[in-house]
Amino acid sequence: MKRSPLRRPGAAQIVSGVTVLGVVAALAVVTAAAAGPASGKASGLGGQAALAAAQRPGTTVSAATSRQLASVGSQVDSLVGRMTLAEKIGQLEMSGPTGPNGTPGQTLLDEVRSGEVGSVLDLVGVANINQVQQAALQSRLHIPVIFGLDVIHGYKTIFPVPLGEASSWDPTAVRNDASISASEATADGIKWTFNPMVDVSRDPRWGRVVEGSGEDPFLGSAMAAAKVRGYQGSGFSAPDKMAATVKHFGAYGAVQAGREYNTTDMSEQQLRNLYLPPYKAAVDAGAATVMSSFTSLNGVPDTANPYLLTTILRDEWQFGGTVISDYQAVQELEAFGYATSGAEAAQLAITAGVTIEMGVQVPSQFSTYTLYLAGLVNSGKVSMATINSDVRHVLTLKYLAGLFAHPLTDPNRVKTAELTPASLAAARTMAGRSMVLLNNNHVLPLNTSVSSVAVVGPLADNPSDQLGPDVPIGYAASDLTSVVSVLNGIKAAVPHATVTYAQGCDATCTSASGFDAAVSAAKAAAVTVVVAGEPASYSGEASSRSDIGLPGQQTALIQAIAATGKPYVVVLMNGRPLTLGWVADNAPALLEAWFPGTEGGNAVADVLFGKVDPGGKLPMSFPRNVGQIPISYNELPTGRPADPSNKYTSKYLDVPNTPQYPFGYGLSYTTFSLSNLHLSAGSISRSGSLTVSADLTNTGTVAGDDVVQLYIHQDGTTILQPVRRLDGFQRVTLAPGQTKTITLTLSPGDIGFYTNTPGQFVVEPGTVDVYVGDSSVGGLQGQFTVTG
Ligand code: BGC
Repeated sequence: MKRSPLRRPGAAQIVSGVTVLGVVAALAVVTAAAAGPASGKASGLGGQAALAAAQRPGTTVSAATSRQLASVGSQVDSLVGRMTLAEKIGQLEMSGPTGPNGTPGQTLLDEVRSGEVGSVLDLVGVANINQVQQAALQSRLHIPVIFGLDVIHGYKTIFPVPLGEASSWDPTAVRNDASISASEATADGIKWTFNPMVDVSRDPRWGRVVEGSGEDPFLGSAMAAAKVRGYQGSGFSAPDKMAATVKHFGAYGAVQAGREYNTTDMSEQQLRNLYLPPYKAAVDAGAATVMSSFTSLNGVPDTANPYLLTTILRDEWQFGGTVISDYQAVQELEAFGYATSGAEAAQLAITAGVTIEMGVQVPSQFSTYTLYLAGLVNSGKVSMATINSDVRHVLTLKYLAGLFAHPLTDPNRVKTAELTPASLAAARTMAGRSMVLLNNNHVLPLNTSVSSVAVVGPLADNPSDQLGPDVPIGYAASDLTSVVSVLNGIKAAVPHATVTYAQGCDATCTSASGFDAAVSAAKAAAVTVVVAGEPASYSGEASSRSDIGLPGQQTALIQAIAATGKPYVVVLMNGRPLTLGWVADNAPALLEAWFPGTEGGNAVADVLFGKVDPGGKLPMSFPRNVGQIPISYNELPTGRPADPSNKYTSKYLDVPNTPQYPFGYGLSYTTFSLSNLHLSAGSISRSGSLTVSADLTNTGTVAGDDVVQLYIHQDGTTILQPVRRLDGFQRVTLAPGQTKTITLTLSPGDIGFYTNTPGQFVVEPGTVDVYVGDSSVGGLQGQFTVTG
């Protein structure tokens, strides 16, 4: 726990920040990382991403791009040839603001001018950014600085949290949101985001599940690639594009006991089959940078792990971009007891493959590259070749970001770039598409001619918590005026109705003193909307919980509303799957809205009143209780599958094995049926592909959305295969009575798997079971054979 005094404010705190504007321009390009995998084994995994990639153009490096990369290469080489060792080391260190209220401060300006740092974290506002860039341009070689920030689910227009976006199962819309985020952030001068976070997790106690796409590698891969393409476009030198970072490499989501920053330890096959695919998909989509994880894997801290950072990332995946450490994580190698000194920490990190140290405070004990790299080079412990190669990566990043051609940010674009009508419309659409209807006992949708609505609960009129964690630095308290709460969304949706509000309790709900007012409001209204959930600060970094129920007395508040006997619905805002207990069993309607962002209140109203059909599906299982964790649909088989009539089978005495709500689950206001499962082949060779199709029909009376999901399972393999594994999906909107044939493709990369031999990817002969449904449970069944 060595957090510097410069550590930025907690993600949930919204601070008054400096706001302003910017622009860049120039070069067009795609990173070298867009090149395909080198080995046949790796390309098998690439096939998974290929399904998603097939829908999205732009992954192939064009001849023009190749020429540009070549030209960047010669410019970089020429610059490296003129740099001193100190200037080279400067490029490998990241600093942060040193002045009051997030301003640059003289220390930062001086170190940038002298070439001691090459990148800056957490500085926002175009005036600040241009001031620092002017100083960088005064350095001996005029090398610009690149400014990085956590732009996770929006910059000023805040979209639903990533777990919510994943619930949309709509990579195209997710890509669009990332593109809008890039447009807003770059207007302020930020050219580098530390996103997408793609850590697969089976443990909702871990607070960071909110930042990712849930428990599944296939869905996670689609979301990862979509975000990279949204941020970077076809080249992040464009004024409104930015470099993306896939993080946290690797397998951070497997922290033991769901405890933040804890150990991860797993088999090779689990690492490769479950946790690595989304990182690989992001790299294949051209992610410019990769961030190493705070955690250790199999006894080696990721920040010093050559197997992850060099063998897998560089050698197998042919990643050609920049690797950045996590926040002061190089120095933390000492806290691990892995390095015995700061110098050894720097040596271990750079030789393992960490290009840039996110030291933030420079110089300090946290900037080990600044302090020790020169000595390590002079003593021969770190080679000049390593330094030169790393500096090339950083300079290439800056060239690709267009910073050499256009280092300064246009102060005008920000005046019109943020919170545009189109961005807000996209935020409203995504919030609606991310909502998952968990229960509905004929209560929803509400009638728009309703005479009165009571809106109660801690999240009902709470713009700050509604945004969720990971709102960027610089998002000011005044920005909250653009947030539409559920209360205001409902007022706008039913302007003729009497809408009353009673909070009941705050989000921690330690006191029931406001319950009476909420109950009175419910009694007086035709229907009550209870908006419950977690405070934003309960999820995100450093926010693990051992109890993932509704906080405090929130369940009692809902029970008090239920006891009125009047109709009510529950809307949830939270950053993780919750154990809902009584609420899951009793709420007549339960809508999971996640933290829905700026337009969340309008989107909740859209869904409650039936303007939008809730078509989202869970990207993560909701356990019944914490004792079931880790929990996921894609577990491996056991030799003693649960059998209620046999005690000696794999189960609990006190709770079923099944989750409260499974992965892929979500209701709609209409009903769907699937029929006519058709496989294009009964057998294929190991290198063959086939298509799987089925007819989806809207059998209800209103238009609605469903997500067709394709799962497979194979027995008789050399490594046990998950009982089910997602291998394809498509979200569909159908009018009442409409039928659509959905066709999904299975390629070797989807059918094969990694063994415990490092890097070995195999497709094995045998029978493959196919399931097509709209959840990870049930569905149509078929089979095909892979021949030897
Ligand atoms: C987090 C990263 C983040 C970095 C910079 C760290 O504490 O783990 O996800 O990108 O800070 O803000």
